[in-house]
Amino acid sequence: MKSAAFLAALAAILPAYVAGQAQTWAQCGGIGFTGPTTCVAGSVCTKQNDYYSQCIPGSATTPTSAPTSAPTSQPSQPSSTSSAPSGPSSTPTPSANNPWTGYQIYLSPYYANEVAAAAKAITDPTLAAKAASVANIPNFTWLDSVSKIADLKTYLADASALGKSSGQKQLLQIVVYDLPDRDCAAKASNGEFSIADNGLANYQNYIDQIVAAVKQFPDVRVVAVIEPDSLANLVTNLNVQKCANAKSTYLTAVNYALKQLSSVGVYQYMDAGHAGWLGWPANLTPAAQLFAQVYSDAGKSPFIKGLATNVANYNALSAASPDPITQGDPNYDEIHYINALAPALQSAGFPATFIVDQGRSGQQNHRQQWGDWCNIKGAGFGTRPTTNTGSSLIDSIVWVKPGGESDGTSNSSSPRFDSTCSLSDATQPAPEAGTWFQAYFETLVSKANPPL
Ligand code: BGC
Repeated sequence: MKSAAFLAALAAILPAYVAGQAQTWAQCGGIGFTGPTTCVAGSVCTKQNDYYSQCIPGSATTPTSAPTSAPTSQPSQPSSTSSAPSGPSSTPTPSANNPWTGYQIYLSPYYANEVAAAAKAITDPTLAAKAASVANIPNFTWLDSVSKIADLKTYLADASALGKSSGQKQLLQIVVYDLPDRDCAAKASNGEFSIADNGLANYQNYIDQIVAAVKQFPDVRVVAVIEPDSLANLVTNLNVQKCANAKSTYLTAVNYALKQLSSVGVYQYMDAGHAGWLGWPANLTPAAQLFAQVYSDAGKSPFIKGLATNVANYNALSAASPDPITQGDPNYDEIHYINALAPALQSAGFPATFIVDQGRSGQQNHRQQWGDWCNIKGAGFGTRPTTNTGSSLIDSIVWVKPGGESDGTSNSSSPRFDSTCSLSDATQPAPEAGTWFQAYFETLVSKANPPL
């Protein structure tokens, strides 16, 4: 996701507000927001989170925190929890196979809604059709706040019912992402919990709620990416005060997550940054040692499968040639990084396998610096998710970051403004992290490689 590199802050760009009503897709509310709070005709001001309300086209049919309908390719009726089987009485048995083998990936209704609204807003029919098709490509549901666990419950029940009605077992992909003092080396994704304010206990409660939900549906397989950026920040960013302060809490919290999620059979991949971060030769050994230690401290559960790389980043799995911004790193793409990290993990006692995010990696050589991570201009959707990865170390190519959701706001007056989001290779103006960024989505669609 992010990078270790810290970049000189650019001059803050003052937000430009147009008096009157906010345009479609513009911000219309949120903490610290001082612009117009009503939208032009045809759009409704819709709260996305405490920091951000956005003018969404149409009426209130677009995503709030709860899904309203499932994607058309996966017709399904959410079943009531009363029909849910009771939880397993003992620890589930891990499969020795690739977790995806024999399962169909459940498509996120939340994302399908985002994409359907976005496609409707595109006037060019060819582009609109391509855009609409993105709803059928699986990505991950980010549990970025406790409130999102309501969606998880709905999806588990829905996936369970779908599995029963179709005879096709379902696999749900989630990102566990709510550490206290989250995103300690950047600002764009600062979260709801703070270490100083009961953060660890709040986090444990968040994990407990996920575990309770998963336990109710043993027929649905769940695969999780664990806490993007957190452990990678402990490898390289302890010079940042917030990360140094967070170190012991992150380790305790991640340990809790790994153990509890293992106890209900969730297949887990800890986030391991990307080639341009931990892939530098000097970072590989410390990274391997930390991940192996965390794995060991969590009891070496076979449900802790390995590591996720390039989450929400833009690197190729296998680059045709090194992008000049990789400046001599021998691990200039994800496959080189994984091939270098795996043996170091193995010798530290962690026989890890990997998943790699390629959701926005379709285009290459369009960044100014390798450390840039925010809404990179010229990015396109990338290789589709597949278990045909070409490497026995890689369980699946995945799309973790839902393409079209912002990496961070470019509004310098926001409490979560990170100057990386105003660099010259960052698309602007950009809304808050995680909220819909229509212009960005349209570029991802038109620059998709392979094409949609
Ligand atoms: C944001 C999350 C969001 C995720 C997926 C992160 O950058 O902080 O809120 O869920 O991206 O879009």
